Amino acid sequence: MEENTELRDLIIPEHVAIIMDGNGRWAKKRGLPRTFGHRQGCTVVERTVEDAARIGLKYLTVYAFSTENWKRSEEEVGALMQLFRYYMVRLLDVATKNNVRVKMIGDRRRFPKDIIEGINRLERETCEATGLTFVIAVNYGGRDEIRRAAIALCDDVKEGKRDISESFSEEDFSQYLDTAGMPDPDLLIRTSGELRLSNFLLWQLAYSEIYITDLYWPDFNKAELINAIKAYNKRNRRFGGV
Ligand code: IPE
Ligand code: IPE
Ligand code: MG
Repeated sequence: MEENTELRDLIIPEHVAIIMDGNGRWAKKRGLPRTFGHRQGCTVVERTVEDAARIGLKYLTVYAFSTENWKRSEEEVGALMQLFRYYMVRLLDVATKNNVRVKMIGDRRRFPKDIIEGINRLERETCEATGLTFVIAVNYGGRDEIRRAAIALCDDVKEGKRDISESFSEEDFSQYLDTAGMPDPDLLIRTSGELRLSNFLLWQLAYSEIYITDLYWPDFNKAELINAIKAYNKRNRRFGGV
């Protein structure tokens, strides 16, 4: 666990979610193509997984590719697919070394076959790890997730597997989401200063604390993660109470 005395008296959030934004602007500032920013962003993901595991988070969820990101140029989407291919292999290594369980959320069916197989393999080979659960949102949209959950529920009702006439709670509905079984994020971090959710975890972020940093994702680091946790410790969570 964390050797860092800075964290000694802090409450460590169980689940931190991150909107990793600003790769393109990071590259542009340096006169580089956007894809260089994505590449640098991937190395920061690797480091952040290790930091999160050491700090003692139970869940870290990152937004890697949204259902809207397909709108980008063919060149950029293609470069992102190549990066997924490359980093999925590296991630298996990082996860194994750090006792990390990897899980993907989002609709993976839209990806090329080899990427789907890579995702399945990552999940399968890390499923027994007992440390951090690292969740990657790919081809993920909050609205799409709720839409898919509604379809799955309708199917269950039609097939007689579920009766919703007696009772059907929010908790019951949560079990149809991609995040079934996971706690909601306690803390949401968004990099690059943007003040919006961009279709991320719309259901799950209902009562999360929000921390926005101006750093572009490729400049994000452990010190900033700790700053976010310190800010979280100063919040008074009321969940609608007093
Ligand atoms: C985040 O960085 C990564 C993805 C959305 C894939 P961006 O690519 O959105 O970078 P900016 O926001 O254009 O700077
Ligand atoms: C959100 O960033 C999606 C990811 C980080 C994967 P975007 O850059 O796509 O969001 P907008 O376009 O600024 O809302
Ligand atoms: Mg962006």
